[in-house]
Amino acid sequence: MNILVTGGAGYIGSHTVVALSEAGFIPVIVDDFSNSDKGVLEGLEQILGYKPICYAENCNNADVMRRILKEHAIGGAIHFAAFKAVGESMEEPLKYYRNNLGSLLALLQTMLECGVPNLIFSSSATVYGQPDELPVKEDAFLPPSMSVYGNTKQIGEEILRDTAAAGKSIKAISLRYFNPVGALPSALIGELPRGVPNNLVPFIAQTAAGLRPLLTIYGNNYDTPDGTCLRDYIHIMDLAEAHVEALKFLLNKSSGTFYDVFNVGTGRANSVLEIIRTFEEVSGVTLNCRLGERRLGDAAAVYADASKIEQHLGWRARRSMREGLTDSWRWQQRLSNRL
Ligand code: UFG
Repeated sequence: MNILVTGGAGYIGSHTVVALSEAGFIPVIVDDFSNSDKGVLEGLEQILGYKPICYAENCNNADVMRRILKEHAIGGAIHFAAFKAVGESMEEPLKYYRNNLGSLLALLQTMLECGVPNLIFSSSATVYGQPDELPVKEDAFLPPSMSVYGNTKQIGEEILRDTAAAGKSIKAISLRYFNPVGALPSALIGELPRGVPNNLVPFIAQTAAGLRPLLTIYGNNYDTPDGTCLRDYIHIMDLAEAHVEALKFLLNKSSGTFYDVFNVGTGRANSVLEIIRTFEEVSGVTLNCRLGERRLGDAAAVYADASKIEQHLGWRARRSMREGLTDSWRWQQRLSNRL
């Protein structure tokens, strides 16, 4: 079956293309390469043994989406294509609302028109803000988002929920990702952050590789065991496989309307210091770190209750945080050697 993967050249998208292919699906990528690299397609070709179908298009274009859905007899879609820089989203809100919500609306509308019922939406643990109870469950209260980016994820979920509630022929799942790390163990694909990475593990990897002089730890006076923030770091291939399980679940459901939301995390919490220490162990590199101020908008602790997805979709994370960091380091070394 052909599965549309919007944003399929991005970090999570490209790894999901591999997981889909391993499960016997044929991925059809749509990616405008605004935040991804065409080189990813070469990596995918080596892994898959064939060149994946890829359209260099923006998903906001409903005519294009309609044509692709029909031409490839698409059976389901996984929608990754979105901007994701929290800071930029606060400076350019319209850019984020137009792109992140416009693409979802165009995709959903054309899927309904073309009779393609199965949709997986990339949401984020950012919708929880700082949860009152940990580990956080899917039915937790969602506070107003701290960022425009986060708001596009909350609104995206609402669009799907309301469309299903209206009885439209759509079966949809929102997956709330926690913190993805790692790469395919072969290091043929991985994360390609543009400019200075925002996220912890790519920053650590670049510091270890000598590309950044100094890693700043954003605060050690949080109410956590070692004072640094706690997060739920999930291996990118576990996350990719969660999409496949969600898709299979939708395909097995009789036609009609369905909507639900699942956390995709490990249920384990690791501090910034634990991540730094483990990365030093797996890489053998001592990181040059300094303690800095808290970063604006950071929650002290966010980690998943991952029981719902295991119960309903039969998925749980199988790889460790250490494996994730080992694979991130292997990928960084491959990138550095290429430079
Ligand atoms: N951190 C540092 N130094 C760095 C980078 C990060 O100490 O150089 C710390 C952060 O303060 C935080 C932890 O590492 O405590 C994790 O930070 P990340 O930026 O890697 O991850 P976040 O949990 O902040 O980000 C996640 C998702 C984003 C999403 C964001 C919304 O990865 O996609 O939540 O808040 F936008």
